[in-house]
Amino acid sequence: MRLSAAVTLVSLAATSMLAGVRAESDVLELGVKNFSETVNPEKLILVEFFAPWCGHCKALAPEYEVAATQLKEMGIPIAKVDCTVETDLCQEHGVQGYPTLKVFRDGESSDYTGPRKADGIVSFMKKKALPALTEIAPENLVTFSESDRVVIVGAFPKDSAKRVTLEKIAKSYSDEYVFGVVEENPDVQGEGIVLYKKFDEGKNVLEGDFDEEALFDFIKVNSVPIMDEIGPNNYATYMDSGLPLAYYFFSTPEEKTQHSTEIEALAKSLKGQMNFVYIDASKFGAHAANLNLKESWPAFGIQNVGSGAKYPLEQEGELTIENIKALADGVLAGTVESSIKSEPIPESNDAPVKVVVAHTYKEIVEDQDKDVLIEFYAPWCGHCKNLAPTYEKLGEMYKDSKIVIAKFDATANDLPTDVPFQVQGFPTIKFRKAGSTEYIEYNGNRSEEDLVQFINDNAVNKVDVKVEKEDPVKADDIEHDEL
Ligand SMILES: *[C@@H]1O[C@H](CO)[C@@H](O)[C@H](O)[C@H]1NC(C)=O
Ligand SMILES: *[C@@H]1O[C@H](CO)[C@@H](O)[C@H](O)[C@H]1NC(C)=O
Repeated sequence: MRLSAAVTLVSLAATSMLAGVRAESDVLELGVKNFSETVNPEKLILVEFFAPWCGHCKALAPEYEVAATQLKEMGIPIAKVDCTVETDLCQEHGVQGYPTLKVFRDGESSDYTGPRKADGIVSFMKKKALPALTEIAPENLVTFSESDRVVIVGAFPKDSAKRVTLEKIAKSYSDEYVFGVVEENPDVQGEGIVLYKKFDEGKNVLEGDFDEEALFDFIKVNSVPIMDEIGPNNYATYMDSGLPLAYYFFSTPEEKTQHSTEIEALAKSLKGQMNFVYIDASKFGAHAANLNLKESWPAFGIQNVGSGAKYPLEQEGELTIENIKALADGVLAGTVESSIKSEPIPESNDAPVKVVVAHTYKEIVEDQDKDVLIEFYAPWCGHCKNLAPTYEKLGEMYKDSKIVIAKFDATANDLPTDVPFQVQGFPTIKFRKAGSTEYIEYNGNRSEEDLVQFINDNAVNKVDVKVEKEDPVKADDIEHDEL
Protein backbone atom coordinates (compact mmCIF):
# COMPACT_ATOMS: atom_id res chain seq x y z
CA MET A 1 0.00 0.00 0.00
CA ARG A 2 0.97 3.61 -0.16
CA LEU A 3 2.56 3.70 3.25
CA SER A 4 5.67 2.50 1.58
CA ALA A 5 7.24 5.82 0.67
CA ALA A 6 7.12 6.99 4.27
CA VAL A 7 8.31 3.68 5.63
CA THR A 8 11.14 3.60 3.15
CA LEU A 9 12.38 6.98 4.13
CA VAL A 10 12.59 5.93 7.76
CA SER A 11 14.50 2.75 7.08
CA LEU A 12 16.81 4.38 4.56
CA ALA A 13 17.43 7.26 6.93
CA ALA A 14 19.41 4.99 9.25
CA THR A 15 22.80 6.11 8.02
CA SER A 16 26.23 4.92 8.96
CA MET A 17 28.64 7.14 10.82
CA LEU A 18 32.07 8.31 9.88
CA ALA A 19 34.72 7.02 12.22
CA GLY A 20 37.14 9.21 14.12
CA VAL A 21 36.81 12.35 16.17
CA ARG A 22 38.66 15.49 15.20
CA ALA A 23 40.55 17.48 17.73
CA GLU A 24 39.80 20.91 16.30
CA SER A 25 36.37 21.85 15.13
CA ASP A 26 35.40 24.28 12.42
CA VAL A 27 31.82 24.31 13.69
CA LEU A 28 31.10 27.50 15.61
CA GLU A 29 29.36 27.03 18.96
CA LEU A 30 26.78 29.70 19.59
CA GLY A 31 24.76 30.82 22.58
CA VAL A 32 22.31 33.59 23.34
CA LYS A 33 25.17 36.03 24.01
CA ASN A 34 26.78 35.76 20.61
CA PHE A 35 24.13 34.31 18.27
CA SER A 36 22.87 37.51 16.64
CA GLU A 37 26.27 39.20 16.43
CA THR A 38 27.68 36.10 14.67
CA VAL A 39 24.75 35.13 12.45
CA ASN A 40 23.23 38.46 11.33
CA PRO A 41 26.30 39.86 9.51
CA GLU A 42 26.81 36.65 7.47
CA LYS A 43 25.59 36.52 3.86
CA LEU A 44 25.07 32.79 4.38
CA ILE A 45 25.45 30.53 7.42
CA LEU A 46 24.09 27.13 8.38
CA VAL A 47 23.01 26.56 12.00
CA GLU A 48 22.17 23.27 13.68
CA PHE A 49 19.98 23.30 16.77
CA PHE A 50 20.67 20.05 18.61
CA ALA A 51 20.45 18.11 21.84
CA PRO A 52 23.44 16.04 22.97
CA TRP A 53 21.28 12.96 23.65
CA CYS A 54 19.59 12.90 20.23
CA GLY A 55 20.56 9.95 18.02
CA HIS A 56 20.12 11.71 14.67
CA CYS A 57 22.27 14.58 16.01
CA LYS A 58 25.02 12.14 16.95
CA ALA A 59 24.89 10.59 13.48
CA LEU A 60 25.08 14.02 11.90
CA ALA A 61 27.96 15.30 14.09
CA PRO A 62 30.95 13.78 12.22
CA GLU A 63 29.42 14.68 8.84
CA TYR A 64 28.81 18.22 10.05
CA GLU A 65 32.45 18.53 11.11
CA VAL A 66 33.76 17.45 7.70
CA ALA A 67 31.33 19.79 5.94
CA ALA A 68 32.37 22.70 8.21
CA THR A 69 36.02 22.31 7.24
CA GLN A 70 35.27 22.22 3.51
CA LEU A 71 32.80 25.08 3.64
CA LYS A 72 35.18 27.21 5.69
CA GLU A 73 37.56 27.18 2.72
CA MET A 74 34.75 28.61 0.61
CA GLY A 75 33.97 31.25 3.19
CA ILE A 76 30.69 29.71 4.35
CA PRO A 77 30.56 29.33 8.15
CA ILE A 78 28.51 26.68 9.93
CA ALA A 79 27.44 26.70 13.56
CA LYS A 80 25.55 24.79 16.21
CA VAL A 81 23.45 25.58 19.26
CA ASP A 82 22.98 23.16 22.17
CA CYS A 83 19.28 23.44 22.98
CA THR A 84 19.61 21.75 26.36
CA VAL A 85 21.68 24.78 27.44
CA GLU A 86 20.19 27.51 25.20
CA THR A 87 16.50 26.76 25.74
CA ASP A 88 15.27 30.32 25.19
CA LEU A 89 17.32 30.81 22.04
CA CYS A 90 15.99 27.57 20.57
CA GLN A 91 12.42 28.45 21.46
CA GLU A 92 12.84 31.85 19.85
CA HIS A 93 13.80 30.06 16.62
CA GLY A 94 10.80 27.74 16.76
CA VAL A 95 12.84 24.57 17.28
CA GLN A 96 10.48 21.63 17.82
CA GLY A 97 12.64 18.60 17.14
CA TYR A 98 16.29 17.65 16.91
CA PRO A 99 18.27 18.29 14.96
CA THR A 100 16.72 21.37 13.35
CA LEU A 101 18.88 22.91 10.63
CA LYS A 102 18.36 26.43 9.37
CA VAL A 103 20.03 28.49 6.69
CA PHE A 104 20.42 32.17 7.58
CA ARG A 105 20.87 34.82 4.89
CA ASP A 106 21.65 38.24 6.33
CA GLY A 107 19.91 37.13 9.52
CA GLU A 108 16.77 35.80 7.76
CA SER A 109 16.25 32.09 8.28
CA SER A 110 14.78 29.34 6.12
CA ASP A 111 14.65 25.58 6.72
CA TYR A 112 17.58 23.53 5.51
CA THR A 113 16.16 20.87 3.17
CA GLY A 114 19.39 19.26 1.99
CA PRO A 115 21.01 15.92 2.77
CA ARG A 116 22.74 15.10 6.06
CA LYS A 117 25.97 13.66 4.68
CA ALA A 118 29.11 15.81 4.47
CA ASP A 119 29.34 15.97 0.67
CA GLY A 120 25.60 16.63 0.42
CA ILE A 121 25.74 19.48 2.95
CA VAL A 122 28.69 21.05 1.12
CA SER A 123 27.02 20.75 -2.25
CA PHE A 124 23.73 22.17 -0.95
CA MET A 125 25.37 25.18 0.73
CA LYS A 126 27.54 25.84 -2.31
CA LYS A 127 24.38 26.03 -4.42
CA LYS A 128 22.79 28.38 -1.88
CA ALA A 129 25.82 30.65 -2.21
CA LEU A 130 25.40 30.93 -5.97
CA PRO A 131 22.75 32.92 -7.79
CA ALA A 132 20.06 30.66 -9.30
CA LEU A 133 21.61 31.25 -12.72
CA THR A 134 25.27 32.24 -12.97
CA GLU A 135 26.59 34.25 -15.94
CA ILE A 136 29.80 32.48 -16.94
CA ALA A 137 32.73 34.01 -18.77
CA PRO A 138 33.95 31.70 -21.60
CA GLU A 139 37.31 31.10 -19.91
CA ASN A 140 35.51 29.82 -16.75
CA LEU A 141 33.22 27.37 -18.54
CA VAL A 142 35.29 24.25 -17.86
CA THR A 143 35.79 24.95 -14.15
CA PHE A 144 32.14 25.82 -13.74
CA SER A 145 30.92 22.70 -15.53
CA GLU A 146 32.96 20.54 -13.14
CA SER A 147 31.87 22.35 -9.99
CA ASP A 148 29.15 19.92 -8.89
CA ARG A 149 27.77 16.45 -9.54
CA VAL A 150 25.27 17.86 -12.05
CA VAL A 151 25.78 21.26 -13.70
CA ILE A 152 23.43 22.66 -16.32
CA VAL A 153 24.77 25.27 -18.74
CA GLY A 154 22.79 27.16 -21.34
CA ALA A 155 24.52 28.60 -24.41
CA PHE A 156 22.51 31.63 -25.51
CA PRO A 157 23.30 35.08 -26.82
CA LYS A 158 22.42 37.90 -24.41
CA ASP A 159 19.09 38.71 -26.09
CA SER A 160 17.83 35.12 -26.47
CA ALA A 161 14.35 34.38 -25.08
CA LYS A 162 15.62 30.94 -24.08
CA ARG A 163 17.52 32.58 -21.24
CA VAL A 164 14.19 33.38 -19.60
CA THR A 165 13.06 29.75 -19.83
CA LEU A 166 16.33 28.57 -18.35
CA GLU A 167 16.18 31.10 -15.55
CA LYS A 168 12.66 30.01 -14.59
CA ILE A 169 13.75 26.39 -14.27
CA ALA A 170 16.94 27.44 -12.48
CA LYS A 171 14.96 29.35 -9.87
CA SER A 172 12.71 26.36 -9.15
CA TYR A 173 15.58 23.87 -8.90
CA SER A 174 18.40 25.95 -7.45
CA ASP A 175 18.59 23.70 -4.37
CA GLU A 176 19.17 20.60 -6.47
CA TYR A 177 21.35 21.69 -9.39
CA VAL A 178 23.88 24.31 -10.38
CA PHE A 179 22.81 26.41 -13.39
CA GLY A 180 24.89 28.68 -15.57
CA VAL A 181 24.59 30.53 -18.84
CA VAL A 182 27.27 31.42 -21.36
CA GLU A 183 27.09 33.13 -24.73
CA GLU A 184 28.74 30.33 -26.68
CA ASN A 185 29.73 26.79 -25.85
CA PRO A 186 31.92 24.56 -28.05
CA ASP A 187 29.84 21.57 -26.86
CA VAL A 188 26.72 22.87 -28.67
CA GLN A 189 25.97 23.90 -32.21
CA GLY A 190 24.52 27.37 -31.77
CA GLU A 191 21.93 27.68 -28.99
CA GLY A 192 21.29 24.86 -26.56
CA ILE A 193 21.73 23.34 -23.13
CA VAL A 194 24.45 21.02 -21.88
CA LEU A 195 24.03 18.96 -18.74
CA TYR A 196 27.47 18.11 -17.33
CA LYS A 197 27.63 15.24 -14.86
CA LYS A 198 30.21 13.28 -12.94
CA PHE A 199 28.88 9.86 -13.95
CA ASP A 200 27.87 7.80 -16.98
CA GLU A 201 28.46 9.57 -20.30
CA GLY A 202 29.62 12.81 -18.64
CA LYS A 203 27.37 15.16 -20.57
CA ASN A 204 24.07 15.40 -22.47
CA VAL A 205 23.07 18.02 -24.98
CA LEU A 206 19.63 19.51 -25.61
CA GLU A 207 19.57 21.29 -28.95
CA GLY A 208 16.89 22.81 -31.10
CA ASP A 209 13.63 24.27 -29.88
CA PHE A 210 12.38 23.48 -26.39
CA ASP A 211 10.00 24.82 -23.79
CA GLU A 212 10.00 24.71 -20.00
CA GLU A 213 8.48 21.25 -19.87
CA ALA A 214 10.95 19.74 -22.34
CA LEU A 215 13.82 21.29 -20.41
CA PHE A 216 12.51 19.91 -17.13
CA ASP A 217 12.15 16.41 -18.65
CA PHE A 218 15.65 16.60 -20.09
CA ILE A 219 17.09 17.44 -16.66
CA LYS A 220 15.01 14.82 -14.87
CA VAL A 221 16.01 12.01 -17.20
CA ASN A 222 19.69 12.85 -17.51
CA SER A 223 20.56 13.83 -13.95
CA VAL A 224 19.90 10.33 -12.62
CA PRO A 225 22.72 7.81 -13.17
CA ILE A 226 21.98 4.73 -15.29
CA MET A 227 22.36 2.68 -12.14
CA ASP A 228 23.41 3.95 -8.72
CA GLU A 229 23.21 2.58 -5.21
CA ILE A 230 20.20 4.03 -3.42
CA GLY A 231 20.54 5.45 0.09
CA PRO A 232 19.32 8.32 2.25
CA ASN A 233 21.23 10.85 0.13
CA ASN A 234 19.61 10.18 -3.23
CA TYR A 235 16.31 8.58 -2.21
CA ALA A 236 14.31 11.78 -2.75
CA THR A 237 15.67 12.22 -6.28
CA TYR A 238 14.10 8.92 -7.28
CA MET A 239 10.80 9.66 -5.55
CA ASP A 240 10.62 13.09 -7.22
CA SER A 241 11.38 11.75 -10.68
CA GLY A 242 8.00 9.98 -10.75
CA LEU A 243 9.32 7.08 -12.84
CA PRO A 244 8.83 3.46 -11.71
CA LEU A 245 11.80 2.41 -9.60
CA ALA A 246 13.46 -0.99 -10.05
CA TYR A 247 15.51 -2.30 -7.12
CA TYR A 248 18.22 -4.93 -7.28
CA PHE A 249 18.91 -6.16 -3.73
CA PHE A 250 22.38 -7.59 -3.02
CA SER A 251 24.04 -8.60 0.22
CA THR A 252 27.63 -9.23 -0.94
CA PRO A 253 29.93 -7.63 -3.56
CA GLU A 254 29.70 -10.88 -5.57
CA GLU A 255 25.92 -10.69 -5.68
CA LYS A 256 26.14 -7.09 -6.79
CA THR A 257 28.34 -7.88 -9.78
CA GLN A 258 26.62 -11.18 -10.63
CA HIS A 259 24.15 -9.60 -13.08
CA SER A 260 25.44 -6.04 -13.19
CA THR A 261 26.50 -5.94 -16.84
CA GLU A 262 23.13 -7.14 -18.13
CA ILE A 263 21.06 -5.11 -15.68
CA GLU A 264 22.96 -1.93 -16.43
CA ALA A 265 22.44 -2.55 -20.14
CA LEU A 266 18.73 -2.99 -19.47
CA ALA A 267 18.67 0.16 -17.30
CA LYS A 268 20.31 2.05 -20.15
CA SER A 269 17.81 0.83 -22.69
CA LEU A 270 14.92 1.88 -20.43
CA LYS A 271 16.38 5.25 -19.46
CA GLY A 272 13.67 7.86 -19.13
CA GLN A 273 10.98 5.18 -18.62
CA MET A 274 12.18 3.39 -15.51
CA ASN A 275 14.93 4.09 -12.98
CA PHE A 276 17.17 1.27 -11.73
CA VAL A 277 19.07 1.13 -8.45
CA TYR A 278 21.18 -1.24 -6.42
CA ILE A 279 20.21 -1.54 -2.79
CA ASP A 280 22.49 -2.95 -0.11
CA ALA A 281 20.41 -5.57 1.68
CA SER A 282 22.94 -5.81 4.51
CA LYS A 283 21.88 -2.27 5.48
CA PHE A 284 18.37 -1.87 4.06
CA GLY A 285 17.10 -5.44 3.81
CA ALA A 286 13.89 -4.51 5.62
CA HIS A 287 12.96 -2.40 2.60
CA ALA A 288 12.19 -5.64 0.75
CA ALA A 289 8.92 -5.89 2.70
CA ASN A 290 7.77 -2.66 1.02
CA LEU A 291 7.96 -4.51 -2.30
CA ASN A 292 6.36 -7.66 -0.89
CA LEU A 293 9.68 -9.48 -1.23
CA LYS A 294 11.10 -11.95 1.29
CA GLU A 295 14.49 -11.14 2.78
CA SER A 296 16.36 -13.57 0.57
CA TRP A 297 19.13 -12.29 -1.73
CA PRO A 298 19.70 -11.36 -4.44
CA ALA A 299 16.19 -10.12 -5.14
CA PHE A 300 14.51 -7.82 -7.64
CA GLY A 301 11.33 -5.75 -7.52
CA ILE A 302 9.73 -2.69 -9.07
CA GLN A 303 7.61 -0.02 -7.46
CA ASN A 304 5.41 2.56 -9.09
CA VAL A 305 6.42 5.53 -6.96
CA GLY A 306 3.19 7.38 -7.71
CA SER A 307 0.53 4.79 -6.91
CA GLY A 308 2.68 2.63 -4.65
CA ALA A 309 1.89 -0.49 -6.73
CA LYS A 310 4.49 -3.21 -6.15
CA TYR A 311 5.88 -5.75 -8.55
CA PRO A 312 8.16 -8.23 -6.77
CA LEU A 313 10.04 -10.72 -8.95
CA GLU A 314 9.03 -14.29 -8.06
CA GLN A 315 11.58 -15.58 -5.53
CA GLU A 316 11.20 -19.30 -6.14
CA GLY A 317 14.00 -20.53 -8.35
CA GLU A 318 16.99 -18.61 -9.65
CA LEU A 319 17.06 -14.91 -10.39
CA THR A 320 17.88 -14.46 -14.08
CA ILE A 321 18.24 -11.47 -16.36
CA GLU A 322 15.47 -12.89 -18.59
CA ASN A 323 13.04 -12.81 -15.66
CA ILE A 324 14.12 -9.31 -14.70
CA LYS A 325 13.69 -8.07 -18.24
CA ALA A 326 10.30 -9.73 -18.62
CA LEU A 327 9.07 -8.10 -15.41
CA ALA A 328 10.37 -4.65 -16.38
CA ASP A 329 8.81 -4.86 -19.83
CA GLY A 330 5.54 -6.16 -18.38
CA VAL A 331 5.30 -3.34 -15.84
CA LEU A 332 5.92 -0.73 -18.52
CA ALA A 333 3.40 -2.33 -20.85
CA GLY A 334 0.86 -2.60 -18.03
CA THR A 335 0.48 -6.34 -18.55
CA VAL A 336 1.68 -7.44 -15.10
CA GLU A 337 -0.69 -7.42 -12.13
CA SER A 338 0.68 -5.62 -9.09
CA SER A 339 1.21 -7.67 -5.96
CA ILE A 340 -1.30 -7.16 -3.19
CA LYS A 341 -0.25 -8.34 0.23
CA SER A 342 -3.20 -9.87 2.01
CA GLU A 343 -3.94 -11.97 5.03
CA PRO A 344 -5.98 -15.06 4.22
CA ILE A 345 -9.73 -14.44 3.89
CA PRO A 346 -11.18 -15.37 7.29
CA GLU A 347 -13.22 -18.60 7.16
CA SER A 348 -16.01 -17.09 9.16
CA ASN A 349 -16.59 -13.40 9.68
CA ASP A 350 -19.55 -13.38 12.05
CA ALA A 351 -18.10 -11.34 14.89
CA PRO A 352 -19.73 -7.91 15.39
CA VAL A 353 -16.63 -6.18 13.99
CA LYS A 354 -16.04 -7.41 10.44
CA VAL A 355 -12.45 -8.35 9.61
CA VAL A 356 -11.38 -6.90 6.25
CA VAL A 357 -8.27 -8.13 4.41
CA ALA A 358 -6.85 -6.82 1.13
CA HIS A 359 -8.67 -9.48 -0.90
CA THR A 360 -12.07 -8.63 0.66
CA TYR A 361 -11.66 -4.85 0.77
CA LYS A 362 -13.78 -4.07 -2.29
CA GLU A 363 -16.48 -6.58 -1.41
CA ILE A 364 -16.97 -5.40 2.18
CA VAL A 365 -15.83 -1.79 2.34
CA GLU A 366 -17.13 -0.72 -1.06
CA ASP A 367 -20.50 -2.51 -0.81
CA GLN A 368 -22.81 0.22 -2.14
CA ASP A 369 -25.86 -0.94 -0.12
CA LYS A 370 -24.12 -0.49 3.19
CA ASP A 371 -22.73 2.32 5.27
CA VAL A 372 -19.26 1.35 6.42
CA LEU A 373 -17.13 2.53 9.32
CA ILE A 374 -13.61 1.19 8.95
CA GLU A 375 -10.65 1.34 11.30
CA PHE A 376 -7.12 1.01 9.90
CA TYR A 377 -4.92 -0.28 12.71
CA ALA A 378 -1.57 -1.81 13.55
CA PRO A 379 -1.27 -4.67 16.03
CA TRP A 380 1.39 -2.77 18.02
CA CYS A 381 -0.54 0.51 18.23
CA GLY A 382 -1.50 1.50 21.78
CA HIS A 383 -4.28 3.93 20.82
CA CYS A 384 -5.83 1.14 18.74
CA LYS A 385 -5.81 -1.19 21.74
CA ASN A 386 -7.50 1.51 23.84
CA LEU A 387 -10.19 1.85 21.22
CA ALA A 388 -10.85 -1.90 20.86
CA PRO A 389 -13.50 -2.31 23.64
CA THR A 390 -15.49 0.70 22.38
CA TYR A 391 -15.20 -0.51 18.81
CA GLU A 392 -16.50 -3.96 19.83
CA LYS A 393 -19.51 -2.27 21.43
CA LEU A 394 -20.20 -0.34 18.22
CA GLY A 395 -20.06 -3.63 16.34
CA GLU A 396 -22.68 -5.08 18.70
CA MET A 397 -24.97 -2.07 18.31
CA TYR A 398 -25.07 -2.22 14.52
CA LYS A 399 -24.76 -5.99 14.22
CA ASP A 400 -27.95 -6.74 12.31
CA SER A 401 -28.16 -3.53 10.33
CA LYS A 402 -26.92 -2.16 7.03
CA ILE A 403 -24.21 -0.29 8.87
CA VAL A 404 -20.97 -2.26 8.86
CA ILE A 405 -18.33 -1.78 11.55
CA ALA A 406 -15.06 -3.08 10.14
CA LYS A 407 -11.33 -3.20 10.84
CA PHE A 408 -8.26 -3.61 8.63
CA ASP A 409 -4.74 -4.52 9.79
CA ALA A 410 -2.78 -2.10 7.62
CA THR A 411 0.55 -3.73 8.44
CA ALA A 412 -0.48 -7.12 7.04
CA ASN A 413 -2.58 -5.96 4.09
CA ASP A 414 -2.07 -3.57 1.18
CA LEU A 415 -4.79 -1.04 0.47
CA PRO A 416 -6.07 -1.26 -3.10
CA THR A 417 -4.02 1.25 -5.12
CA ASP A 418 -7.15 3.08 -6.30
CA VAL A 419 -8.35 3.98 -2.80
CA PRO A 420 -8.24 7.80 -2.67
CA PHE A 421 -6.26 8.24 0.56
CA GLN A 422 -3.18 7.13 2.41
CA VAL A 423 -3.02 5.84 5.94
CA GLN A 424 -0.50 7.92 7.85
CA GLY A 425 -1.14 7.11 11.48
CA PHE A 426 -2.95 4.53 13.58
CA PRO A 427 -5.76 4.26 14.15
CA THR A 428 -7.24 5.96 11.10
CA ILE A 429 -11.03 5.79 11.06
CA LYS A 430 -13.05 6.41 7.88
CA PHE A 431 -16.68 6.30 6.95
CA ARG A 432 -18.20 5.63 3.56
CA LYS A 433 -21.90 6.37 3.06
CA ALA A 434 -24.05 3.84 1.24
CA GLY A 435 -24.10 4.71 -2.45
CA SER A 436 -21.04 6.94 -2.26
CA THR A 437 -17.39 6.41 -3.17
CA GLU A 438 -16.14 9.16 -0.90
CA TYR A 439 -14.55 8.56 2.46
CA ILE A 440 -15.14 10.85 5.42
CA GLU A 441 -12.39 10.88 8.02
CA TYR A 442 -13.40 10.62 11.65
CA ASN A 443 -11.40 13.12 13.68
CA GLY A 444 -13.48 13.28 16.84
CA ASN A 445 -12.58 11.76 20.15
CA ARG A 446 -12.92 8.04 20.50
CA SER A 447 -15.82 7.89 22.93
CA GLU A 448 -18.76 5.62 22.18
CA GLU A 449 -21.08 8.61 22.33
CA ASP A 450 -19.19 10.66 19.76
CA LEU A 451 -18.69 7.75 17.40
CA VAL A 452 -22.39 6.91 17.47
CA GLN A 453 -23.26 10.56 16.89
CA PHE A 454 -20.91 10.60 13.90
CA ILE A 455 -22.51 7.47 12.45
CA ASN A 456 -26.01 8.89 13.00
CA ASP A 457 -25.05 12.13 11.31
CA ASN A 458 -23.64 10.45 8.22
CA ALA A 459 -25.31 7.09 7.67
CA VAL A 460 -27.86 6.69 4.89
CA ASN A 461 -29.28 3.58 6.60
CA LYS A 462 -30.73 4.94 9.82
CA VAL A 463 -30.49 2.82 12.97
CA ASP A 464 -31.68 3.84 16.40
CA VAL A 465 -29.11 2.88 19.00
CA LYS A 466 -28.92 3.63 22.68
CA VAL A 467 -25.71 4.86 24.25
CA GLU A 468 -25.03 4.43 27.93
CA LYS A 469 -23.24 7.30 29.64
CA GLU A 470 -19.60 6.45 30.00
CA ASP A 471 -16.48 7.70 31.76
CA PRO A 472 -14.93 10.85 30.38
CA VAL A 473 -12.48 10.15 27.58
CA LYS A 474 -8.80 10.63 28.17
CA ALA A 475 -7.41 13.56 26.21
CA ASP A 476 -4.77 11.40 24.53
CA ASP A 477 -7.47 9.40 22.87
CA ILE A 478 -7.53 11.78 19.97
CA GLU A 479 -3.85 11.22 19.24
CA HIS A 480 -2.42 8.85 16.66
CA ASP A 481 0.51 6.50 16.80
CA GLU A 482 2.93 7.50 14.09
CA LEU A 483 4.00 5.04 11.46
C1 LIG B 1 29.65 31.93 21.93
O1 LIG B 1 29.38 31.86 23.31
C2 LIG B 1 29.55 30.58 23.90
C3 LIG B 1 29.13 30.69 25.35
O2 LIG B 1 27.85 31.20 25.48
C4 LIG B 1 30.96 30.11 23.75
O3 LIG B 1 31.10 28.80 24.25
C5 LIG B 1 31.34 30.10 22.27
O4 LIG B 1 32.69 29.79 22.12
C6 LIG B 1 31.06 31.48 21.64
N1 LIG B 1 31.26 31.33 20.22
C7 LIG B 1 31.83 32.24 19.46
C8 LIG B 1 31.93 31.92 18.02
O5 LIG B 1 32.23 33.31 19.91
C1 LIG C 1 -15.14 13.59 24.03
O1 LIG C 1 -16.54 13.44 23.92
C2 LIG C 1 -17.27 13.51 25.13
C3 LIG C 1 -18.70 13.23 24.84
O2 LIG C 1 -19.18 14.07 23.83
C4 LIG C 1 -17.09 14.90 25.71
O3 LIG C 1 -17.79 14.96 26.94
C5 LIG C 1 -15.63 15.16 25.91
O4 LIG C 1 -15.44 16.50 26.34
C6 LIG C 1 -14.85 14.94 24.63
N1 LIG C 1 -13.43 15.03 24.91
C7 LIG C 1 -12.57 15.65 24.11
C8 LIG C 1 -11.14 15.57 24.54
O5 LIG C 1 -12.90 16.21 23.08
